[in-house]
Amino acid sequence: MHDPLGRRDDVILSVEDLAVHFPVGGGLLGRGGRLLRAVDGVDLGLKRGECLGLVGESGSGKSTVALSMLGLLTPTRGRIVVDGQVVTGRRAGNRKTLARIVQMVFQDPYASLNPRQTVRHTLEDPLRVHGVTAASEIEDRVATMLRHVGLRPEQADRYPHEFSGGQRQRIGIARALILNPRIVICDEPVSALDVSIRAQIINLLLELKETLGLSYIMISHDLGVVEHMSDRVAVMYLGRIVETGDWREIFERPAHPYTRSLIAAIPDPLHHAPLATTKGELPNPLSPPNGCAFGPRCRYAEAVCHREPGPPLEMRPDGHMVRCWRADEITDQTALALTASGHP
Ligand SMILES: Nc1ncnc2c1ncn2[C@@H]1O[C@H](COP(=O)(O)OP(=O)(O)OP(=O)(O)O)[C@@H](O)[C@H]1O
Ligand SMILES: [Mg+2]
Repeated sequence: MHDPLGRRDDVILSVEDLAVHFPVGGGLLGRGGRLLRAVDGVDLGLKRGECLGLVGESGSGKSTVALSMLGLLTPTRGRIVVDGQVVTGRRAGNRKTLARIVQMVFQDPYASLNPRQTVRHTLEDPLRVHGVTAASEIEDRVATMLRHVGLRPEQADRYPHEFSGGQRQRIGIARALILNPRIVICDEPVSALDVSIRAQIINLLLELKETLGLSYIMISHDLGVVEHMSDRVAVMYLGRIVETGDWREIFERPAHPYTRSLIAAIPDPLHHAPLATTKGELPNPLSPPNGCAFGPRCRYAEAVCHREPGPPLEMRPDGHMVRCWRADEITDQTALALTASGHP
């Protein structure tokens, strides 16, 4: 059966009930501190060869999910399985194995590259750490990778500051791909770049996905970016997935009021301004509202929404999943009419 969470059919990565809680404040021994529930019960699956978009506004927990997938954060609860191996609660040393399978492209290519290292040095480091020592093989792999990302092998001896922002992101992509990973997590890969070169980098990522047979997780606060790349989309709000499904379903029939407001916030290509932005701000994760976390900002909220936490993700007849008490009552017609008139 088709599963919008993508947990069946040739799954290369799955996340089961992931929670990451950070102790904050508090004095010695953490007494008096509180728990910030950055991620709280996330289920996701990535199929081989697909691109899954993970969207949500700043602070919703997207990077925390990504760092957990890379083995850089130890989850409070839940399980992550990558290519058949459980990577949570793992033994020391497994992170090295994981690095050969999952890699990340960061948002700011300048901040994430060492200014004192040449491109060659940056690309050679991971190869050496992973036991590639023959000089000729290293040289070949660096040159091939630079060509893959649209740079010339002669540029390998330059430093990051000698490149433009777009070229630096190409170097960041080359570094992520040099170990031939199967999965690449792109965390806001174009949001630090000039608008005029975003499309080039997105196209490069799409090309590389096909040529190298990669699977992607594409993280963005902007649904417009993932719209062009993703096969499926998962929408996060305050540490939870509130809606997920095929991108076309999500864009044409968004069922969660939050997804609707994100769609309404995609800049209009003619006017370069969003139709509408979500009113209010993400609640403080240290004191989440009672009931559904989106309740205080939701124009459809009723008593139940302020009383009960959101329901579990429920399958809808059109094949996507949504966590909203009122999803069935809010008809597609109203949704589309409201979105078109700029009211999420
Ligand atoms: N190490 C940490 N210690 C305490 N709180 C943290 C830590 N890392 C993240 N958080 C908090 O967890 C929540 C989720 O953060 P996260 O960085 O995952 O969000 P995000 O969706 O990636 O946001 P952005 O779009 O701004 O990158 C935020 O409230 C953040 O302040
Ligand atoms: Mg982030």
